[in-house]
Amino acid sequence: MLALTGYIDRLSARPGEDIAFKLSSTGTDPVSVRLVRVVSADPNPAGPGIIEHDLSEVFTTSVPSRVQTHTVGSWGTAPLPPMPEGPVTLSATIWPTSPKKGEQGIVCALGPTGFALTVGADGCTNAVVTGEGTLSVSTGAPLSAHNWYRVWASWDPSAGKLTVGQHAIHPPFGAEPPVGASTTGTVGAIEWPEVVTFAARSGAPVSGLYNGKIEAPAIIAGAYDVPPEGEAIAAWDFSRQISSTMLEDTGPHACHGSIVNLPARGMTGSLWAAKEMAWTNAPADYGAIHFHDTDLSDCGWETDFTFTVPEGLRSGAYAMRLTCGAEEDSIPFYVVPPRGTRTADLCVLIPTLTYVVYQNFARPDFGPAYRERVAQLGGTPSFPADHPEYAFSTYNLHSDGSGVCHSSHLRPFLTMRPGHLSYLDYRGSGLRHYSADTHLLYFLEAEGIEYDIVTDHDLDEEGLALIADYPCVTTTSHPEYHTETTLDALLEYRNEGGRFIYLGGNGFYWRVARHPEVPEAIEIRRGEGGIRAWAAEPGEYHNAFDGAYGGLWRRSGRPPQALAGVGFSSQGPLDGAPYRILPAARDPRVSWIFEGVEQEVIGDAGLSGGGAAGFELDRADVRLGTPEHTVILARSFGHSDAFIVVHEEMLTHLTTVPQEPAHDLVRAEIVFFETPKGGAVFSTGSITFCGSLPDEGGEPGTARMLANVIRRFIDPAPFAMP
Ligand SMILES: [Fe+2]
Repeated sequence: MLALTGYIDRLSARPGEDIAFKLSSTGTDPVSVRLVRVVSADPNPAGPGIIEHDLSEVFTTSVPSRVQTHTVGSWGTAPLPPMPEGPVTLSATIWPTSPKKGEQGIVCALGPTGFALTVGADGCTNAVVTGEGTLSVSTGAPLSAHNWYRVWASWDPSAGKLTVGQHAIHPPFGAEPPVGASTTGTVGAIEWPEVVTFAARSGAPVSGLYNGKIEAPAIIAGAYDVPPEGEAIAAWDFSRQISSTMLEDTGPHACHGSIVNLPARGMTGSLWAAKEMAWTNAPADYGAIHFHDTDLSDCGWETDFTFTVPEGLRSGAYAMRLTCGAEEDSIPFYVVPPRGTRTADLCVLIPTLTYVVYQNFARPDFGPAYRERVAQLGGTPSFPADHPEYAFSTYNLHSDGSGVCHSSHLRPFLTMRPGHLSYLDYRGSGLRHYSADTHLLYFLEAEGIEYDIVTDHDLDEEGLALIADYPCVTTTSHPEYHTETTLDALLEYRNEGGRFIYLGGNGFYWRVARHPEVPEAIEIRRGEGGIRAWAAEPGEYHNAFDGAYGGLWRRSGRPPQALAGVGFSSQGPLDGAPYRILPAARDPRVSWIFEGVEQEVIGDAGLSGGGAAGFELDRADVRLGTPEHTVILARSFGHSDAFIVVHEEMLTHLTTVPQEPAHDLVRAEIVFFETPKGGAVFSTGSITFCGSLPDEGGEPGTARMLANVIRRFIDPAPFAMP
């Protein structure tokens, strides 16, 4: 646990709106809080350094220290139906993923007394009944990970008999008979708890969190030595309400429950036989929920103070600086202009969906050399890998090896901190996302270009109306994740005459969805192909949150080139190379872009990887939607052999989808094209591009070029189609 940290309920707000701050501090002194406006979050002394304007006169406060806690892991809970006086059975169908990890609850009606069906410490199905005394029994047959079982526990109080059973469903070597065991004894009266818990042992906090899928948990009258088929007192059907947090009970008492910490829904169940690939077409095949002991959608901390954005506070990047004794933290957020207004011609779209998808990415390379570099540059010394208590990102795996498909910002956001370094980068600062994107903000301030800020979350909520009035909208370095709404809004903006600038690489790549009830949570299914951190399982390519076919936008017929003119082509190390300006750039149609840029090579230094073209590279491709009249202005060169071509462009070890040699696809391209209603698009196609803006050494080519583009793009004079 960090000594001082916190999170906020929203990442952006308008004047008049509230942001709730939820803190945890182990200190004894109060936590001092002051507002700052953030201009540069890159601590590297080779660049502008951290630049923050103190706004204590606008907001400062002090709150008592207190430690706030939460439980990591997901489970389900529902009211317990009236339990019979006579024999009763708990049952479920399960697909355990780490049966050997220790005791795990499956269906638990357990308070100080009660009855539970569990995976026991022995890795077998167990039954436990507790009154004045406790009886337990194990099948003695170890559960095998990633196999389906019907499991049950029966308690017959008059006979004092406790039975447990498990029956493998489609086992690998053909049908097997059920296995079971029983024991007898007396436990005295049971006082039933008010709730039944799924995937954990009941309690506050819950314990014994389960890893794996659970389908069709039920409470059944009677006791059974074979798989129970009796009258259901309660039967929860997880194939219903998949996009919700609700657990629907189809039994007579309607004991509807809910999930906690967003386990994965829309998961293939024991009935799935690859006849349907979408849960929306065959919900009954998708009756399973995959629970993980590493899920976390909401820490649920109390609010320590609320900040009401004052009227007149300019749109921009802000943070609350927290101090308690020697401990410090900083919680960033954005101020969006008042609704229906704009206060600048340029709108910077901050990719908060991508920030959240990457939230608390525990990278594999948080080693001593990285930590030494962080200390050397004065970076933030909080590394996600050290803090599993705040849960990881969708670039990580759960403890059972399955991919993390949800992320939520209702938890400390270690990767969204001024001075957070993502990479060991000796040629630059090693920044990504939040801190890297301040390279652009610093450039705009240095150039005297006024800007407003809006976020992906705002755009997803408001659509085109949010940005329609801006002459120019620009992205930052890595707008990778989009909902249908944000992508539609940007395309409509472009097509209605907007001027759109894309300053990143690997943008507009993955399709994500926000949860209808927990909009802070985002879902990503890493289906089919693409450069990805894990692979979704067969049949699980459709989002639970909205039912859409997830994965690459390209697989939904919307390659990035169709919006921005360039799309993902190659990935390699955070190692920047320059661009060479091409002869076509000197054509009068586009030569204004390079006014004052006499040199042929630009971007050969920078704060991200030491060059403007690096890490992830995008290129134009007419086949994927780049307009025919697009001008390729510049192309990167000199990338190391460590760069690879993205999977979706590779066919064999020799051939590629565009039929060019693979090594030729390792390139970033800067492109420009006009649109029919007087608008235009300018894209740079590299994640590290913005790192060259504050200082690329020598003649400032990238900064001069971008300043020319922005100044022309905010000029209302229409562009003409060639
Ligand atoms: Fe990415």
